[in-house]
Order: sequence, then C-alpha cells, then structure tokens
Amino acid sequence: MDASTTAERARYPFFNNGLYDVDGEGSYPATDQGLYDLTLNAEDRGLFRPPSLRNVALTAPYMHDGSIATLREVLQHYSAGGTVTTSGPAAGDGRKSPLKSGLIRGFALNEAETTDVLSFFDALTDERFVRNPALAAPEP
Ligand code: HEM
Repeated sequence: MDASTTAERARYPFFNNGLYDVDGEGSYPATDQGLYDLTLNAEDRGLFRPPSLRNVALTAPYMHDGSIATLREVLQHYSAGGTVTTSGPAAGDGRKSPLKSGLIRGFALNEAETTDVLSFFDALTDERFVRNPALAAPEP
C-alpha cells in the first residue's frame, strides 16, 4: 500500500502511543520508527497500528518491540500517559512526545480497577481457538 495517501491513512489508522521520545522531538529508537521507516515523513515517527487484543493475555511481551513485559505494565504505560525510559539508547520521556496521540492523556487507575481490566484481558482468550488441534504446529 502507499502509506502516505490520505485515503490509505484513513483505512489503516496508525497512532503514536507515547512509548518513546529519544530526542525531545518525538523520535523512536532508530531500530524501528514505525510508519516513518516507510514514508520518511518526520511526523510519522513512532506511528504503529494498534494490534488486535484477541488472546492478548497469551502474547507477552507487548508493543512492536516487546519492550513492555506484562499487561499490568501496559496499564501503567497508559495510566501514566506514556513511558519514561531512564537509561540506554532509548532513554527519554514518551509522555512528553510532541508526536504522541491526543488520545493518550493518562488517567488514575486503582488496584481494583487494574485487576478488573486484567480480568477483561483474560476474557479475550479464546481457548477453543488456542487448543484446536487443527491449528496446532505440525508434528516435527
Ligand atoms: C487504556 C486503554 C488502552 C489499553 C488497555 C490498550 C492496550 C494495548 C495493548 C495491550 C497493546 C499491546 C498489544 C500487543 O503488543 O500485542 C497496545 C498497543 C497499542 N496501542 Fe493501545 N491500549 C489502550 C489505548 C490506546 C489508544 C487510545 C491508542 C491510540 C492512540 C492506542 C494505540 C496503540 C498502538 C498504536 C499500539 C501498538 C504500539 C506498538 O506496537 O508499539 N492504544 N495497546
């Protein structure tokens, strides 16, 4: 697809969810800058498509680079309005990224609410799909 046309962008929405900001201008680590790597448009840095949450409880680690280990930490990422990386080449404050979506604003989540959302994620596990022998890896 030509990811840069307006029609294609409307069909395939991408978002920057505030995972990184390595330079104060919204850059993600150079290893993967999302849509930017295809378009080379500066405003496309850190744009990724939200994946389906079906079976999400079984698919740790999370985000495009597996940088968030658990769903509890994913909730901390969103409640903080982004992720702060304190050291290394990815260091920076994703909460303050100028390219972060306006939908990622942070919110308060107490322990009971956190547990409720984690239970909701568990409810998205499709056991019949996961245990279907017809969909299993072939015998070696
Ligand atoms: C509190 C509400 C939200 C929850 C619980 C949530 C949950 C998640 C989870 C569990 C993932 C990781 C999926 C995986 O790696 O398999 C994810 C990724 C993602 N979400 Fe959200 N999400 C929320 C809000 C949003 C909003 C509002 C946006 C749009 C601005 C968004 C955009 C994305 C994107 C683009 C990714 C992929 C990021 C990457 O691969 O680096 N999410 N979300």
